[in-house]
Amino acid sequence: MNIIVFASRKGGSGKSTLAAHLAAHVHKTSKPCLLVDADPQGSLTLWQKLRGTDEPPIRQAVRSVSEIVAAAKRDGYEYVFIDTPPTMSAVVEDAIRNATLVVIPARPGVFDINAVQETIQLCRSARRPYAVVLNGAPAMRDNVESRLVRLAREALAKFRVPVWGGQVTNRADLILALAHGEGAKEYFAEGRAASEINRLWTAIERSIKAIRGTVSSSGAMHKQAA
Ligand SMILES: Nc1ncnc2c1ncn2[C@@H]1O[C@H](COP(=O)(O)OP(=O)(O)OP(=O)(O)O)[C@@H](O)[C@H]1O
Ligand SMILES: [Mg+2]
Repeated sequence: MNIIVFASRKGGSGKSTLAAHLAAHVHKTSKPCLLVDADPQGSLTLWQKLRGTDEPPIRQAVRSVSEIVAAAKRDGYEYVFIDTPPTMSAVVEDAIRNATLVVIPARPGVFDINAVQETIQLCRSARRPYAVVLNGAPAMRDNVESRLVRLAREALAKFRVPVWGGQVTNRADLILALAHGEGAKEYFAEGRAASEINRLWTAIERSIKAIRGTVSSSGAMHKQAA
């Protein structure tokens, strides 16, 4: 079983957005994904209610995720996605301790990049693999990243932080899909939002395989220092 934790003490960086879109992308009856909403704000729980189905299933966690994780293992889930609050609280530490991979979304701004450091410190102390994902980025032009994204990568490089090579662009479709209780692919399969979520998932899957030792870790997002 693989546990992907979405964490950042910076509010509004995109934890719940990425968790929801990736879960909708990944969940299949054959490869079930369990959502864990460890944030009292309840964003993922709201999204799952809007879906109007119980798929993917969701559990709420308050202080600890360990019991939910143990039950998920017994129940044969392939993936558990944990959305966490923008804090450094006990439940965040517990989620990170349980993580196969920690995804740290960050918007490409100076305050945002600075704020990821505390979350990174938690991952490092717990010795869990992590990668920053630049989210809410200005669109690329002619396949070239915006200056803002370039500067963010430069800033992260100073701390030798692993960063996904792609970006999730600021797109209304990502918000509209969530309002319908959908993921990007369900909302508009041919859209750019769906293609970015697909690329992000491919990178996460590759990292998980590298962490499990089934493929080489070279080029995996959690090894890719900016
Ligand atoms: N790539 C994006 N494009 C457009 N809007 C986005 C994107 N990512 C996030 N948002 C919007 O930004 C807001 C904050 O995102 P989200 O709630 O996912 O962040 P969060 O990290 O979970 O916040 P919190 O720390 O409060 O839980 C939401 O309104 C969401 O719809
Ligand atoms: Mg959230």
